[in-house]
Amino acid sequence: MFSVDDIRREFPVLGREVYGRPLVYLDSGATAQKPLQVLDTVDRLMREQNANIHRGVHFLSEEMTEFYEGARARIAGWLGAAEKEEIIFTSGATASLNTVAYAWGDKFVGPGDNIVVSELEHHSNIVPWQLLAERKGAEIRVLPFDDEGALRTDLLPSLIDSRTRAVAVTQASNTLGTRPDLRPVVDAAHAAGAIVVVDGCQGAVHGGVDVRALDCDFYAFSGHKLYGPTGIGVLYGKRALLESMPPFMGGGDMVDRVTFARTTFAPVPLKFEAGTANFIGAIGLGEAVAFMQRFDPAEIEAHESALLRHAEARLREIDGLRIYGSAPGKCAIVSFNVEGVHPYDMGMILDKLGIAVRTGQHCAEPVMDHFGVTGMCRASLVLYNTLAEVDALADGVRRAVRMLR
Ligand code: ALA
Repeated sequence: MFSVDDIRREFPVLGREVYGRPLVYLDSGATAQKPLQVLDTVDRLMREQNANIHRGVHFLSEEMTEFYEGARARIAGWLGAAEKEEIIFTSGATASLNTVAYAWGDKFVGPGDNIVVSELEHHSNIVPWQLLAERKGAEIRVLPFDDEGALRTDLLPSLIDSRTRAVAVTQASNTLGTRPDLRPVVDAAHAAGAIVVVDGCQGAVHGGVDVRALDCDFYAFSGHKLYGPTGIGVLYGKRALLESMPPFMGGGDMVDRVTFARTTFAPVPLKFEAGTANFIGAIGLGEAVAFMQRFDPAEIEAHESALLRHAEARLREIDGLRIYGSAPGKCAIVSFNVEGVHPYDMGMILDKLGIAVRTGQHCAEPVMDHFGVTGMCRASLVLYNTLAEVDALADGVRRAVRMLR
């Protein structure tokens, strides 16, 4: 049974006080807190089991390698990947997306080609494509969203053509919470022979994914937003695509045979895991996924959706407050501004009340531009948040407005 009180006991930081007040942590969209299952595993690995993977015949090395590959298999299963070799460990979603833009992009994108990028994206699913387009003389085309935050998939036929090589799209916007219907995106891209690269940073947390059912070609997410450690992330890619790509970074572990005359490479996924991997982070991420697997996804969804409805209702009572993003089926992310109040001032007053929200551009400047603002406040709500915390936010916003107006 889903019990938020039980869940909260597994997250030690949620028991903290800041400025003498109970912490109300509503910034999980930037980075989520970690459950004991992750903390204890990482601690134990470093204290008692540390040894480099894939390199030793000794006990500790073999044990760590087994844990590392076990984490890969668990994550593959959770994502619905066909095989564990389709899971590459990276340092985070940004590294995953850059790997695609460099390793796949440099080989398969040329002058006159185009890449369609949704306007909902945060910077890590925009800038790597811009850099690729500059390197190769390709064009970036923007798939816009409407004022509710819904992706204009009706415009796909006018954007995708025979020169489209990739469509980059989020599964859930980190700012507006929009969870676009990716079916028409995948279908239109594939019909034109283009690949689909999905940023799952928020989507993996809010609803999860079945990459095979979705039929996306690449899927990227970060561990630290999914209750796992920082500095670890995943790139899922279809095996045939991964095999068709050259390595992105060179170094140890990604090679087969190295001579000064010629070097051959390890098979996937190791071809894309140069150097000593963040094996402790990867195993910690495996534990974060195991933590998620303890719950029925429908129960998490129901809890987060109740938090979202309550937050929207309470915040809408506040005079001059505007919530950005109302697309049907959005996830539990609420970005807002109050007329005449700068989001940084709002964030700083909320902070003094013990309430952590994100303020600013949320690494998604085009979304700010769409609404003609320089920043927003954002409350991101996840499985460990409570209705009482939402009330604290609404009361805190009211108080800040009284002070700042
Ligand atoms: N992109 C992260 C966020 O949404 C950092 O806050």
